[in-house]
Amino acid sequence: MNRPLLIGPFTQLIPMTNLPLKGALKDEQLTIIENGGILVSEGKILKVGVFDDLKSEDVDVHNIEGQHVCLPGFIDSHTHICFGGTRARDYAYRNAGKTYLEIAKAGGGIWDTVTQTRKASQQELVEGIVSRSQKHLKNGVTTIEVKSGYGLSVDEELKMLRAIKQANETSNATLVPTCLAAHMKPKDWDQDKNYLDVIINELFPIIKTENLAKRVDAFVEESAFSPEEIKPYFQKAKEMGFDITVHADQFTTGGSQVAVDFDAVSADHLEASTEKEIQLLAKSNTIATALPGASIGLGCAYTPARKILDAGGALSIASDHNPGSAPMGDLLTQASILGTFEKLSNTEVLSGITFRAAAALRLADRGKLESGSQADFVVFPTDNYQEITYHQGQLKPSQVWKKGTPIH
Ligand code: NIG
Ligand code: FE
Repeated sequence: MNRPLLIGPFTQLIPMTNLPLKGALKDEQLTIIENGGILVSEGKILKVGVFDDLKSEDVDVHNIEGQHVCLPGFIDSHTHICFGGTRARDYAYRNAGKTYLEIAKAGGGIWDTVTQTRKASQQELVEGIVSRSQKHLKNGVTTIEVKSGYGLSVDEELKMLRAIKQANETSNATLVPTCLAAHMKPKDWDQDKNYLDVIINELFPIIKTENLAKRVDAFVEESAFSPEEIKPYFQKAKEMGFDITVHADQFTTGGSQVAVDFDAVSADHLEASTEKEIQLLAKSNTIATALPGASIGLGCAYTPARKILDAGGALSIASDHNPGSAPMGDLLTQASILGTFEKLSNTEVLSGITFRAAAALRLADRGKLESGSQADFVVFPTDNYQEITYHQGQLKPSQVWKKGTPIH
């Protein structure tokens, strides 16, 4: 066994510990360790505390020079970074006032990305995921959920999920795969067969055998699948032991009820959620995930994050990085902007991209800096943590550590 490594001192070390999973948070609740240090061994955190207290003859030291703030590595609990092509034309059309229907008629929308993703080889998809995840990593995101959903046939969904698995082997970030075969009804589907039946009976078992994903997602929306239509899909996914997550209440409500009924780990989007859905989610075990990148990309309302927190809900904040609705993909920028529009405390914003996001992915070993956790952390060149959201993503990490190793 190698000698433990002590990293520090950090002007401020913010472990994100001793905070509840649910409900509103004040900055007064945030633990700040001044001149903090992290003791690491074999990729895990042994201890977190005051740097000088952790020093001993038995440890090696990695000195941090200057003023720095250290936080847990950020977690992006919802992305679609496996795709081919671009949808810049959709963006221009949208901003020129064209409607969703007009854009779809012009060959845009999710189906356009399906067509472009089907044309890409598995290797090309791998390269796209790795390059996008490297960018996220430089911005401090050390764990990234990645969905399929632009294949929409058994073979094409498999190509995507295998690409995500392959990318995970080379990427420095951890990639968490999710099957989103129910993203929309495939336009080229043979009408004699029920699409979801084929997904359930043919795709799900292969995902299990090849260990391609532990999570299953669906877009519950008028333009995709109704709450009624999606039930057998989630029913079967649950029986097979998959975690459930739902694209819910983006334009119309109904999805969050499905999420709660299936005890989903998360319900994501929620821009259209009303008081009823907010209460429903707050009383459940389902994490509410805001996707400000989609609001910015589409030019529509933000998820009612303030109301969700005040009602006692758990709030994760994710980028939704995808070529259509959320092309920017900068989690910290988006989370900071959501904070300004929804009046979120720094602690609420930072919780949403650390331990609350970890809970949305059922990952118990990250999102906090504490003994036993994976040694994933991000370091910013400042002496005050408030500078991080204040610069709205423009204050970039000086270092990013993954499993106890500096990778940026
Ligand atoms: O989360 N809402 C559905 N799916 C994606 C959009 C995907 C796309 O436009 O390509 C989302 O925003
Ligand atoms: Fe999404």
